[in-house]
Amino acid sequence: MSRTPQESWSGKIGVILAVTGSAVGLGNFLRFPGLAAQYDGGIFMIPYFVSLLLLGLPLAWSEWALGRYGGTQGFHSAPGIFRVVWKNRAAPYLGVLGLFVPVIIYTYYIFIESWCLGYAWHYLTGSMNLGFDPAAYGTFFKNYTGMESNAAVFSNPLGTPFIFLALCIALNFFFIHRGLSRGIEIVCLWAMPILAICAGLVLLRVLTLGTPDLAKPELNVLNGLGEMWNPRASHGNFWTSLANGKMWMEAAGQIFFSLSICLGVIITYASYLRKNDDIALSSTTAVAGNEFFEVALGGMITIPAAFIFLGASSTSGGTFALGFNTLPLVFAHMPLGQAVGFFWFFLLFLAAIASSLSMLQPAIAFLQEGLGFSRTRAVFTLCGVGTAGTLFVVWFSKNLAALDTFDFWIGTFGIFVLAIIQTLIFGWIFGAKRGLEELDQGADIRVPRIFPFIIKYVSPVYLLAIFTLWAWQKMGSYVQSFIEDATVRWSIIFLIAALTLFLWWIRIAVRRWRAQEGGAP
Ligand code: ALA
Repeated sequence: MSRTPQESWSGKIGVILAVTGSAVGLGNFLRFPGLAAQYDGGIFMIPYFVSLLLLGLPLAWSEWALGRYGGTQGFHSAPGIFRVVWKNRAAPYLGVLGLFVPVIIYTYYIFIESWCLGYAWHYLTGSMNLGFDPAAYGTFFKNYTGMESNAAVFSNPLGTPFIFLALCIALNFFFIHRGLSRGIEIVCLWAMPILAICAGLVLLRVLTLGTPDLAKPELNVLNGLGEMWNPRASHGNFWTSLANGKMWMEAAGQIFFSLSICLGVIITYASYLRKNDDIALSSTTAVAGNEFFEVALGGMITIPAAFIFLGASSTSGGTFALGFNTLPLVFAHMPLGQAVGFFWFFLLFLAAIASSLSMLQPAIAFLQEGLGFSRTRAVFTLCGVGTAGTLFVVWFSKNLAALDTFDFWIGTFGIFVLAIIQTLIFGWIFGAKRGLEELDQGADIRVPRIFPFIIKYVSPVYLLAIFTLWAWQKMGSYVQSFIEDATVRWSIIFLIAALTLFLWWIRIAVRRWRAQEGGAP
């Protein structure tokens, strides 16, 4: 039974490009190198690859399988798909996270996306020539993002921060309105190759830097790569550094965020496939594609470049500091730095827009199939809700407090909760063996036969262990900030109000679906 006008991908390459486009984003080029630098370079790669094998790949396979199965039953968003898989009244309501998580991540992700486009513009026009004083770049970033005081971005509607934000919002809703193959696919078809070319050019520049300052021979390309890849033991020895629980938790979070799994996105994208379309090879290719962009490209640019010009101490400033303060200073020192700066921020923008578009599609699909909206009405409704969230984040810009709160509760906590729910629904309710049969249907490769065991036992235990550790380590400080910081409180009130709206929509949708099915529960 189909509840919405049938949409589909133009073909196998189309869906792989769209999923890879969703996956390759700011997480690959900013978050991943930042984490690797923070957690002892090569040592971080151990929990990273363990998480990729025990969580990333199995959960990607299961999400593609759930999505395609739900699509064949006429549903394209998590509430409907969970409901057909699990005949329980709670199922569609648990699926709310598959809408809420991507929409809320979108609300702040688009703000960062607009910084990237704005910085690219400033490089193109030469106005990022700020000299060699590190403080100049910090001040520029603070002014640009409105970190100094709330509502700063709104004080100048003709300034580039406001204009590029409006432009990014308009572009996202323009392309999402065009639909899967004429919108999302077209963006990915153009963005991914251009992004790869930009990344290749920046990487070539970084790898050919040699030893720019002969007075400091240790600051060279090889040592820069070593800074990223060699295991360092800053917590005692190799084993004590590896035993850092927080690092294991961050590595798992990075895998989810970067692969766009358990965000509600892939389940929706895969639901537009047909019953006999391959999902085994396509999902594996998309995971591999994301890892190439993350490890081979993202991992070889940021940290080596910062190290070569500024030394080891420059690489540990955190994601935003690394991307928006340190790298612009590095570009200032680099021959052809202005062009490299433009390519870098433009590639970040392209990576971001393919990801942010994917965060809108689950809610659009839901508004159509659940509430019976036309695509235009769904797009306008979501534009209203999404933009309200973005304006909230941009208004409470002081120290990016609202952005951080959304990222913590939804971009990390929400993803973990959805991951646990989705893994249990797939492994225990849909059934891991049935899941393997679903993956085998139309498959171009054979998924390892150990998959049912991993998804049923290993992934949930690993997930729960990491989630408990994360909650134990982080909850205290966030409860504290809730008590002390008014912006955090307002942000949480906003999130609860938005969640209530989504739950109300699901209630309406469930009633409609029941009526269509002749009153079935
Ligand atoms: N997967 C997207 C990223 O890495 C959200 O940025």
